[in-house]
Amino acid sequence: MKKIISALLAGTLAVAVLAGCGKSSGGATMTEGKLIAGTNAAFPPFEYIGDDGQPDGFDIALIKEIGKRLGYEVEIQDMEFGSLVAAIGSKIDVAIAGMTITDERKQSVDFAEPYYDATQYVIINAGADIKNAEDLKGKAIGCQLGTTGETVAQDAEGASVNPYDKAVDAVNDLVNGRVDCVIIDKNPAEVFKNNFGDKIEIIDGAQFDFEIEQYGIAAPKGSQLVADINKTLEEMKADGTFAELEKKYILGE
Ligand code: ARG
Repeated sequence: MKKIISALLAGTLAVAVLAGCGKSSGGATMTEGKLIAGTNAAFPPFEYIGDDGQPDGFDIALIKEIGKRLGYEVEIQDMEFGSLVAAIGSKIDVAIAGMTITDERKQSVDFAEPYYDATQYVIINAGADIKNAEDLKGKAIGCQLGTTGETVAQDAEGASVNPYDKAVDAVNDLVNGRVDCVIIDKNPAEVFKNNFGDKIEIIDGAQFDFEIEQYGIAAPKGSQLVADINKTLEEMKADGTFAELEKKYILGE
């Protein structure tokens, strides 16, 4: 009899736990009630360190709102971009970092639905003679370590690829003449254009036949978080919150 009762109790408990996860009431993360989101806050306007020393930007605001709607307390962890994928499921619950959905990354993590389109841009010193893929051959190219920009740079024949931890350091080295160009995503390139002004020019990756990329939030393989995030993203698009954040952080209207 005792055995039956404890078996019944165990069963009830299991059902309760499963039901809890299904409701996405903060139970699908490493720490109950908490969502640890990893990022690399050196990628404006998606993530950067704000005036108060804390990570801010479109992605940060987006994940905070998603977490809130799912009943989590959100904690942001700033780390190297190249360490994010490996940290998912061990140090962080999700990564949100203007991260392009790639087949290679999909081998280790699951992505929620794409939330933003991007392409790589080329940043050059004003007046420099770099206009197409052919011109990239043999050049010294700056990029951010572990990014799709680095992959694209490696495709240029005979180029020397210079990866930096922070994209802004690559742009500083461009202006100082240490590299010939920098390959980085469109929106950060536009922010750098604003900050560096007439010193630099930015060129649409379409001129170099770069592919369109899509950003996604990454979660551990098989995680319930993917469905929860997708549902919340849809809600935020439907009720205008997504567009508001886009205006505030990206379009600057
Ligand atoms: N979209 C590019 C990639 O996925 C660059 C992302 C860099 N993001 C960052 N937060 N530093 O590789």
